[in-house]
Amino acid sequence: MTKLTDKTERGAGADLISKVSLPGMFALDGSSESMWVDVIHRMDEVYSELLRNETDLERKNAELEEAQTFISSVIASVSDILIACGSDGVIRKVNPAFLSLVGLDEARVIGTRIFDYVIEADRKEAERLMSAGQQGRVLEGDLHFRTAQAREECLAMRCAALFDGRRRRSGAVLTGRPISELRQAYQDLHQAHLELQQAQRRLIEQEKMASLGRLVAGVAHELNNPISFVYANIYTLDRYRKNLVTYLNSVHAGAGDDAIAEQRKRLKIDAILADIAPLLEGTIEGADRVSDIVKNLRRLSFSESGERHTVDLDRVLRNSVQLAIRAKNSRAEVTIDSEPGLFVEAHEGRIHQVVVNLIDNALFAVADRTDGRVHLRAKSTGAMVELLVSDNGPGISDEERSKIFEPFFTTKPVGEGTGLGLWITFTIIQDYDGEISVRNRAGGGAEFQVLLPASPSAV
Ligand SMILES: Nc1ncnc2c1ncn2[C@@H]1O[C@H](COP(=O)(O)OP(=O)(O)O)[C@@H](O)[C@H]1O
Ligand SMILES: [Mg+2]
Repeated sequence: MTKLTDKTERGAGADLISKVSLPGMFALDGSSESMWVDVIHRMDEVYSELLRNETDLERKNAELEEAQTFISSVIASVSDILIACGSDGVIRKVNPAFLSLVGLDEARVIGTRIFDYVIEADRKEAERLMSAGQQGRVLEGDLHFRTAQAREECLAMRCAALFDGRRRRSGAVLTGRPISELRQAYQDLHQAHLELQQAQRRLIEQEKMASLGRLVAGVAHELNNPISFVYANIYTLDRYRKNLVTYLNSVHAGAGDDAIAEQRKRLKIDAILADIAPLLEGTIEGADRVSDIVKNLRRLSFSESGERHTVDLDRVLRNSVQLAIRAKNSRAEVTIDSEPGLFVEAHEGRIHQVVVNLIDNALFAVADRTDGRVHLRAKSTGAMVELLVSDNGPGISDEERSKIFEPFFTTKPVGEGTGLGLWITFTIIQDYDGEISVRNRAGGGAEFQVLLPASPSAV
């Protein structure tokens, strides 16, 4: 295009015409001169118009170029891949993200087909995506592309129809985001989750073993006492037996009355005879005690945890307190105040676990005190049985209170707490449609409240 630059040039041109034409090669009369002046004016006007149009055109051209640069730079900076292709899949435009994915330059890609870059197995899916817009909506799906590194990269694709200036469908625009890394991250997360679950199960097992250990320690203490006095009684009885045998041998050998009387005194036969009955009674009592402990243990551990029986809460409380105190070797004063006839439908071992966990925590809370007190109170509230376990320890801060039922929350030193006790307790109580809550007592210390549905058979 010839360039007419500015108005100065145009002005000079108009002057030139007037200068050249007026003296003229022809002799001009007045009317033809004015005609010429008209023509020159017209030309001048047309010329100005032309210049105006050209300036407009240049401005529009500059705007267009700017818009194009803007769109190109937007497309270039989109990190998702972008492909615009015809209905036949022939690529018309791609963005740098796509070029770097496939490792080719633009000239090599334009004119090829999108199917050339998708793995064979995904061709059908690519065709389905390309049909987008026919139904008037965006289609989504995953496509595996062959990458520059001869690997496969999975991209989450979205495909929309491409329209021409007359709103006729002329192809499709696909955008895609690599999800291989996302998938990998998801898989890693899933794996980590599984491992965490396993670790959690292991910890629960460990907690079970630990509470079993505590139980066994308590039972060992508990058995020690009756067994030791059964032993002592039997040794005494054996001693008595020897004296009695010596004495009877003398009687059977026909010894004289004086000798027999002397032996009876020396061998303390009368005292022995008086002592045998209480000794035997004590021994039987000891054996009964051992048998009771064993029976309690059997109730705790030999039925499936899903099984439910009518459980006497009072008995569980007494049993748990005894075992917990012995196992903890606690100096705290533990008192029980329970109404008789409180029954719940549950597995005795699990109720025992609930009570022992609460007592354990309470004993720990008062361990540093010389006047540590733990009080258990059980009563009926109609449809529910209420158990309160309170202590005069430090209580629980507001911040901790919201977390104590979460698994693994513990404020105890490593090795002393697993943070599972209250969580297991909570789970068991929930299983039995009960509730557990905690508050700080006005006089200091914590109070746990457990509500369990009263056994209908025993109400
Ligand atoms: N009676 C209580 N007094 C004060 N804090 C308590 C009491 N019972 C529980 N807690 C708090 O709740 C936390 C969680 O208890 P728990 O789930 O039994 O786990 P662990 O006893 O292993 O720490 C304890 O570490 C403690 O901070
Ligand atoms: Mg605990």
